[in-house]
Amino acid sequence: THARDTVMCFHLRIQLDSFTERKDFWLSTRFLLAFPSRGRGAVEPLVDSRVSAMTMQWGQFLDHDLDFTPVDPADSTFLDGRRCNETCTNEAPCFPIPVYSDDTRIRHRPCIGFVRSSATCGSGASSLFVGSRPYFREQLNQITAYIDASNVYGSTENEARDVRELDSDRGFLREGLPTSLSNRRLLPFSTSQPVDCQIDPRKRHIPCFLAGDHRANEQLGLTAVHTLWMREHNRLARGLRSLNPHWSGDQIFFEARKIVGAMHQHLTFSHWLPVILGQAGMRQLGRYRGYNMSVDASIANVFATAAMRFGHTLINPVLHRLNASYKEIAEGSLRLHQAFFAPHRLVGEGGIDPILRGLVGRGAKQVEPTQPINTELTERLFQLAHEVALDLAALNIQRGRDHGLPGYNDWRSFCGRHRAESFDDMRWSIRDPRLRERMRLVYGHPNNVDLFAGLVAEDAVDGSLVGPTTLCLLVDQMRRLRDGDRFWYESPDQFSHLQLAQIRRTSLARVICDNADNVTAIQPDVFHLPGPGNPRLACSRLDPGLNLKFWKECPAIDGQQCLTSSRMKREAESDDRVRLRSQVDELARQVENLSRQLQSFEGSG
Ligand code: HEM
Repeated sequence: THARDTVMCFHLRIQLDSFTERKDFWLSTRFLLAFPSRGRGAVEPLVDSRVSAMTMQWGQFLDHDLDFTPVDPADSTFLDGRRCNETCTNEAPCFPIPVYSDDTRIRHRPCIGFVRSSATCGSGASSLFVGSRPYFREQLNQITAYIDASNVYGSTENEARDVRELDSDRGFLREGLPTSLSNRRLLPFSTSQPVDCQIDPRKRHIPCFLAGDHRANEQLGLTAVHTLWMREHNRLARGLRSLNPHWSGDQIFFEARKIVGAMHQHLTFSHWLPVILGQAGMRQLGRYRGYNMSVDASIANVFATAAMRFGHTLINPVLHRLNASYKEIAEGSLRLHQAFFAPHRLVGEGGIDPILRGLVGRGAKQVEPTQPINTELTERLFQLAHEVALDLAALNIQRGRDHGLPGYNDWRSFCGRHRAESFDDMRWSIRDPRLRERMRLVYGHPNNVDLFAGLVAEDAVDGSLVGPTTLCLLVDQMRRLRDGDRFWYESPDQFSHLQLAQIRRTSLARVICDNADNVTAIQPDVFHLPGPGNPRLACSRLDPGLNLKFWKECPAIDGQQCLTSSRMKREAESDDRVRLRSQVDELARQVENLSRQLQSFEGSG
């Protein structure tokens, strides 16, 4: 089997001595919902003054390239056929989340409906019929694990065919409606989406958009980023065709796809991960040393089910929509619940630009263990489609139990920390004594703490956005995704070194300038807010990014002169000179700003 297919099937289990499946273990999920220092639903979370909302958004987009854990397709009990959102009986495949009788939000039902993740054939109960010995229940990853832009291109032949423009040989991805704002297009509409976007009967009927991952419509920030990458693929395809008119549609498509995949790897490892992991985490991750065939790049169950969900702590309750001056648009910003499955707002309310500007121009939610997840997600999640709005914190915890994840204490010891014997033992990673006391009241003993609850209660490691246990689990997964990928973009046989130098020039700011309808100014590092050292610049002043001329194929065809390798080298050197000069200018600006700040500190001291 092709290596890329094998990692698509199963979640990898990191073995722990104490592994137990705890599916009957019902406990309060209210720990995350009802921390007493902030009234439930009353206080807006703080906004980060440094990290942009795009950091959150890239995380979700990336995650949708890595894992999708399908739930049981029969979302009704096997016993009496009642649907999981109608029954509160713990009957397979339903696994309802109990609601307390004094809950202030959910009064008319004793549970939030929940469907268990599908079990792989031959695991759990079915192992009794298939194998000779019982085998614990295991879940599936339905998409390719690698960072291969499967969120743009799909993870199966069928999905890849659906998103491709097959009636031309341009090597394009399919496009949808034109926007009135530029000659660029939106994503095509889906004709067979498993989810429904017509959830608000008062709104115009607009179907879901189609992209390589079927969650693309989940909220508008995500849809905007999907649109951006469909356009980037087509922009690259157009460029490759004009350089190599003799190439077939297939050749153009696959070369553009290869470049997009490499751009995603580069943006993730060189720009995004340093914000998430900080210097300490990047040191743990270490440098790339080449493909290692003994490394398994599959997604660990613990990564998809808990660690990578750290991103839920970065989500702002407001999706900002900004005009060219980075001020709110006339239609206003949106509460998050108004942005779920709402493609009509992209069609009718200004396209993707206001959303992209909001993501780069406003902060992420500040990471704060006492209020890990905002109430738009704990009280209003998908409320138009569900009688009882869902609760993302509770879903995450319940999903961990559904998958039989070992608890927080086990993962602490996996990550090299001592097991906590008391809640006080956790004081170095969970500093707030009130939070530890709250955990004690809910869980009784450290061994009972659910992994997700423990992870988000930890204080962030200095310079990072995550606590030490999340950091350890992210580093483990990211390293395997890099070192176990035969097609990793820095692997010597993937690109010529001149091409690789171009890939390394990629920035998300450039991709936005090149593909939004009319974003004309942006900060170079979009994962941080604009400010000294990262000023908002006209797009024309940003590094021009990847230059496709290094993809021109030799020898010359149709009398066109193709670049000789020595001329290519000269041009690359001159490109490098321009880039270095602009980096030196940038550094000089930063030094000047820092010394100004220092002077003002010294002045005030
Ligand atoms: C507004 C933004 C977001 C919303 C509304 C959202 C919502 C959800 C929902 C409803 C689930 C399924 C929960 C379950 O039933 O188990 C989920 C899963 C997940 N989310 Fe998010 N999420 C958002 C952003 C993020 C971000 C920023 C990240 C990471 C940086 C992230 C990482 C994940 C992961 C890893 C999963 C598991 C995916 C799988 O393997 O199936 N999400 N999210």
